[in-house]
Amino acid sequence: MIKFENVSKSYKGEKFALEDINIDIKKGEFVFLVGSSGAGKSTFIKLLLKEESPTTGRIIINDIDTTELSRRKIPKLRRSMGVVFQDFRLLPNKTVYENIAFAMEITGNKAKDIRRKVPTILSMVGLSDKAKSYPSELSGGEQQRVG
Ligand SMILES: Nc1ncnc2c1ncn2[C@@H]1O[C@H](COP(=O)(O)OP(=O)(O)OP(=O)(O)O)[C@@H](O)[C@H]1O
Ligand SMILES: [Mg+2]
Repeated sequence: MIKFENVSKSYKGEKFALEDINIDIKKGEFVFLVGSSGAGKSTFIKLLLKEESPTTGRIIINDIDTTELSRRKIPKLRRSMGVVFQDFRLLPNKTVYENIAFAMEITGNKAKDIRRKVPTILSMVGLSDKAKSYPSELSGGEQQRVG
């Protein structure tokens, strides 16, 4: 499902952020990627999303070689993944409710399901009373939970 073959990544001539990574994650596997600050965890996620390209090696997701994927096919690849970003990536002009609803809308959920599920999701992460707040009005931890 997710395969890295001899993947290395260096940012603009710096030393490797990731060096010769080989990994094969199968459907249903539950994997933790741990490492010290600067070890390359976010770089790994950015390569998965094709936000960054590997300096060498191949990345294969669901049998598709993403290193050869054309630009216009990248949004479809990204819609197949759920990601909680370290830097939140919330939309500043949308409320907490609207941020969640929007993410659900673009991943193909029906309006009826969105109206039903968003309050449940907010309650799960203890943010029911922040539904109408904007990201700038939230703490870092609250923004992370919206993400
Ligand atoms: N855009 C960039 N340009 C240059 N170097 C970068 C860039 N992004 C990350 N790096 C470097 O690549 C290395 C890996 O960074 P990365 O963000 O993947 O680490 P991380 O494991 O996610 O760390 P943290 O736990 O602090 O989030 C670090 O040495 C970092 O300084
Ligand atoms: Mg990181």
